Amino acid sequence: MKNDILIVDDDRMILDFTAEILQKVGSTPIVTSSPLEALEIVARQPVAVVVSDHYMPEMTGMELLTRVKELSPNTVRIMMTSAADLDLALTAINSGEVFRFLPKPWKEKDMIKAIKDGLRRYRLLESVRNDDDFILRSLAETIELKDPYTKGHCDRVAEYALLIAESLGLDDGIKRDIMRGSWLHDCGKIGVPEAVLNARRKLTAEEREIVNMHPAWGANVAEKANLPATVINIVLHHHEHYNGHGYPMGLAAGEIPLEARIVAVADIFDALRSDRPYRSGIPLETVLEMLADMRGAELDPVFVDLFVPLVRTREKGA
Ligand SMILES: [Fe+2]
Repeated sequence: MKNDILIVDDDRMILDFTAEILQKVGSTPIVTSSPLEALEIVARQPVAVVVSDHYMPEMTGMELLTRVKELSPNTVRIMMTSAADLDLALTAINSGEVFRFLPKPWKEKDMIKAIKDGLRRYRLLESVRNDDDFILRSLAETIELKDPYTKGHCDRVAEYALLIAESLGLDDGIKRDIMRGSWLHDCGKIGVPEAVLNARRKLTAEEREIVNMHPAWGANVAEKANLPATVINIVLHHHEHYNGHGYPMGLAAGEIPLEARIVAVADIFDALRSDRPYRSGIPLETVLEMLADMRGAELDPVFVDLFVPLVRTREKGA
């Protein structure tokens, strides 16, 4: 992790403890007990992630994070809260003010995970020029809240899809839409009951049918929101298979929009790598072999071949 992480807490002990944890994973964060000094730092230099306490003498964490957003909109904001502030934290997340909250006392691994996810979000935002994608991101996060196993999935799919898009030399406008489509690809899952989404058993035929509606439901939302065709195509076609056996329309090969074929590779890769309710994440090399087996069946062989060496380098360096 790079050093552009800022921790703000009026409790010196928490600052030292947090810095120590982050040093273990190779980062030297900037720490301060003063929210005013934190604002000076954000005004002076690029900061990827700010983690703040809520109750501090100079100003509250919420006030601080709101001012950070004005100074540096792409800086990812994480708040530490006590359980008593849960309502406040949820309101802050829903309004898009805060990326994530860490209930106190937080666990070491949760802190590291939140910061890593935050750094990934920052990198994405910096890699694609965007000013008004805030609502789209919030929507993607609402879906992740519904299905805890997909936490961070939308950002990772965007990151992997952009690896392919960049190697193809696609222009910035299309890359931006691919990022937005990746964030939103599963937004139709909002219509799928949680009991079905989080089931630890094989789904019944009826339940499977409901799940399979999510691309069409999502595309409907994306159309109503007047999103560009690239975004709608990703949402509608990310479960089409290259051999024509996918859904919802059973399109094959070049009939499937290019952007949807790219995101399908990214989506399947991340789904296999991640923990699911019924199994743990699969090791990298095994997943890469599984992708190779899907060439020409589920996935476009050209994009699998482009993606495998890129993601191998990325994952091993991460
Ligand atoms: Fe999906």
